[in-house]
Amino acid sequence: MSIFPSDKPVLVTCGLPYANGKAHIGHLRTYVPADIYVRSLRKMGQEVVFVCGSDTHGTPIVLNAEKLGMTPTELVEIYHSHFNQVFKNLNVNFDSFGTTHDSTNHNRTHEILNRLIEKDYVYSKVIEIAYCPSCDRFLPDRYVEGVCPHCDEISRGDECDQGCGKHLEPGELLEPICTICRGKAAYKDQEHYFFKLSSFQDFLDTYLNQLGGTLNARNYALGWVNKKLDDWCISRTLEWGVPFPGNEDLVVYVWVDAPIGYIAFTEEWAQANNDSWEKIWKGDSRIVHFIGGDIIYHHCIFWPSMLKGAEYTLPWAVVASGMLKIENKTFSKTRGYVVWVDEDYLDHGFHPDLLRYYLASYTSHTKELNFAWNIFQEKINTELVGVLGNFIYRTLLFAYKNFGEVPEGDIEDDVISKIKSIIYEYREFTESYEFKRSADIAMSLASYGNSYFQSKEPWKLIKEDKDACGVVIANCLQLVKALAIIFEPILPEKMEILWEQLGYNSDIHLIQYDEAAAKIEAGQKLSKPLTLFEKIDDSKIEQMEEIASNRVKVADEAAGIKNKKSEEFKEKKVVNYDEFSKLDFRVGKIVEVEDIPKSKNLIKLSVDIGEDKPRQIVAGIKNQYSLQELNGKSVVVLVNLKPVKLCGVKSEGMLLATKENGTLIVPEKYDCSPGSNIC
Ligand code: 2FM
Ligand code: ZN
Repeated sequence: MSIFPSDKPVLVTCGLPYANGKAHIGHLRTYVPADIYVRSLRKMGQEVVFVCGSDTHGTPIVLNAEKLGMTPTELVEIYHSHFNQVFKNLNVNFDSFGTTHDSTNHNRTHEILNRLIEKDYVYSKVIEIAYCPSCDRFLPDRYVEGVCPHCDEISRGDECDQGCGKHLEPGELLEPICTICRGKAAYKDQEHYFFKLSSFQDFLDTYLNQLGGTLNARNYALGWVNKKLDDWCISRTLEWGVPFPGNEDLVVYVWVDAPIGYIAFTEEWAQANNDSWEKIWKGDSRIVHFIGGDIIYHHCIFWPSMLKGAEYTLPWAVVASGMLKIENKTFSKTRGYVVWVDEDYLDHGFHPDLLRYYLASYTSHTKELNFAWNIFQEKINTELVGVLGNFIYRTLLFAYKNFGEVPEGDIEDDVISKIKSIIYEYREFTESYEFKRSADIAMSLASYGNSYFQSKEPWKLIKEDKDACGVVIANCLQLVKALAIIFEPILPEKMEILWEQLGYNSDIHLIQYDEAAAKIEAGQKLSKPLTLFEKIDDSKIEQMEEIASNRVKVADEAAGIKNKKSEEFKEKKVVNYDEFSKLDFRVGKIVEVEDIPKSKNLIKLSVDIGEDKPRQIVAGIKNQYSLQELNGKSVVVLVNLKPVKLCGVKSEGMLLATKENGTLIVPEKYDCSPGSNIC
């Protein structure tokens, strides 16, 4: 039995996308079903608030911004507006879409942390943190790589991404390496803050056993709670993030302030709508989190414990989606198995509703979903065009041509009870997060319509008995009306068009399920029907498949280049420090440049390396630099290389440059005086 509508307000949230890259179909696996769920609940008459926002903190964003030569603020602005636009295009309609960098979220994070500190759930402890002596900095999370202590695979500092998948606490990683300079990192003491997760073990056991949502979330989390939970380090040495209350040298770990964003975005919604956020986060409400299957731990272990500790309302359900495959291969951006929402889908003119339908109806929400272009074509052509579109179009066209309006006629009891029973089942499936079954049961109403139309043969009846034919068509139109309502959560744009074609001027998005079985008004004017769904041609799919396979090819080639480099590395003999230290590298300043006319690539340079007089060095960089450009440049010179003659000119050292294209290696940051030692 349906529990909606109820007096308790419902809040639905979606896992926050990192504002660090473009939206792909993998993202939509969470957002589209959540949007369908919200629209369906509203059709049941339930009050729902739907919030999300960009996850803007954490080391990957800082690293990416550094790589792109921008500030984290600039980077997150770009991707925040990108996601906002993608969601609008897909008709995923959040009531509020903020960012975790908003002051609302900073303030709420401080309030919650202060509360946890006050209640003695947070303590400080000196721990060993990876530290890079060359960069002279601590290395949080992605700034460090090494070996996973659990499975011996190469791993990131915060998560064993290529091995066992475990979350790693600072200091756990073995053989740490700095990801900035690739130098060996060391461990160094630093004071950090811990959340007493271990105190929440019993609470979590009870809580998780009654948690709603999908079983994959609950069972995975219970598996962890049955083991001993360790306290959780919630501070990081970073400049970007929410400053840690009481210790401004540190920021709050991103996995603390990200879920608090759910509260902040509710506050932002409440403020914009003159409503209350407390009725949700402090009152008797139902909070439903839609997330990807990879972040169950954070939502079912960390998050409810924080909320419990700070005395907020606990989530009522966690709905975790299964993984995504692209063309039957494990999703991987680096290997090219990715479908970007903009450039691979919308920009090719595919309608957003088709993708929404695919994502909802391909498989159960918790199972692995495969996106393949040929399956996409097959599903659209047979189901949306062949079944749903076919019934709607033949009914509307017949009705428009022969009646121009909804004809008079009683609706058969069988038709009404069919609509009611399908809506009943649709609701049941949606409430239990079985979106595929909801889509299938909705489609079965269209199949019923097709059989009804076929069995009543209105094309014969119109010639014999127009009134009787009118009754058949009124019944068909009743079914079309019900289909528009039942499919609106999955196909919001298409059903909006259909609603208008049926002669309604109300807003289909606000129409509730009860209306589906209410008799369609005779005399309602029909407009000339348009085809709602069109077949996708083979040639279009071939084009898309080619784009997809090219992307994999390019990724393979890039991986090939990387492999070649790794082979080269393996072939080079390893040197120890003593051997390396025999090479004397110095900063030099080019003070004179002279062409060697008989050479194609060599030029003669005088380089000040801090000695009494400049050294004469011959370098093969004529094709890369003009003589003027070189004059005055600071460079790196190997000064104790045995002198040689090149093109008859003596060379007493070597400038460092890349082998591939002769780009000079130069001191990066400060003005280094000639002769400075390099090691
Ligand atoms: O895994 C992710 O993509 C995170 N950005 C999700 C955060 S969800 C929440 F906790 F805020
Ligand atoms: Zn591991």
